[in-house]
Amino acid sequence: ATDLFGRSFLKELDFTAAEFRGLVELAAALKAAKKAGTEERRLRGKNIALIFEKTSTRTRCAFEVAAADQGAHTTYLDPSGSQIGHKETVRDTARVLGRMFDGIEYRGDSQQSVEELAAYSGVPVFNGLTDDWHPTQMLADVLTMTEHCAKPLERIAFAYLGDARFNMGNSYLVTGALLGMDVRIVAPKAYWPAEAVVDRARELAAVSGARVTLTEEVAEGVANADFVATDVWVSMGEPKEVWDERIAALAPYAVTMDVIRATGNPDVRFLHCLPAYHDLGTKVAREVHERHGLEWLEVSDEVFESAHSVVFDEAENRLHTIKAVLVATMAKPAARSAA
Ligand code: CP
Ligand code: NVA
Repeated sequence: ATDLFGRSFLKELDFTAAEFRGLVELAAALKAAKKAGTEERRLRGKNIALIFEKTSTRTRCAFEVAAADQGAHTTYLDPSGSQIGHKETVRDTARVLGRMFDGIEYRGDSQQSVEELAAYSGVPVFNGLTDDWHPTQMLADVLTMTEHCAKPLERIAFAYLGDARFNMGNSYLVTGALLGMDVRIVAPKAYWPAEAVVDRARELAAVSGARVTLTEEVAEGVANADFVATDVWVSMGEPKEVWDERIAALAPYAVTMDVIRATGNPDVRFLHCLPAYHDLGTKVAREVHERHGLEWLEVSDEVFESAHSVVFDEAENRLHTIKAVLVATMAKPAARSAA
């Protein structure tokens, strides 16, 4: 198995395809062990800091439960409950937490912050979402794809529809390219990932054999896809005012049953990192409904609740994959091979 002991998990680009696949395989093994009741606690006595400068349900819970399952302890620092960024620099915080903790998770805006934490803390640091990347989410998505599609990864095709300039779009593009998959970004050109990210994906594809497509055409983008994915059109930290322009630009890219049918694949599966605006159950969705009359945003309730949707398997897999990252980077290699 690949040895990631002592490594940080900051972005997909820091890993080889073999390392990334190794983490997904470890996650599958840990999932099976947990279900069978044979999980071993390989992180006993370890302490992990969880810094959240933005809110979270899945990522926070996955880190806490994964750590508890493995015998480690977590300390949660909420968006307002620490000095980070307000009274103390990331660099100083890193040097303090590195003296107390064996690993640090960070969620916030800036990729630079998570990179600085890693550079100055001296312990493994895990990116729990920045504006640029959502790498632990990619492990969960790839595990979910392997569970719901019998094909090898290199033969799996997936399409991401929506705002692709942010964490989820960037991460899907480079992950698909790294793993040799058929990855399609389906969005208006103004919503495609930055040129540097696309160039990096094309370089990776040249090595991995991945097919990388960026298109504005929904029908072309989703044809024969095994998976269709989307994300919210307005991300955490963005002002409410951008809803109008996003709806105008992205409404044709909402994942509806028409999009599902356009894949031509009756077994196509739907992915969403969640949270999702698929009905009027949230205040934001109701406000948008009042303004624009839309019953749903990036995905229709019909698709979200259909047999195509595997979003709750995907959410569960956050736990098993984050656990794999913790075990791979924090459990002493000897303790791991004995397990
Ligand atoms: N998918 C995801 O990261 O969810 P949370 O924001 O709830 O952590
Ligand atoms: N793009 C979303 C993902 C949430 C998990 C955001 O950044 O808010």
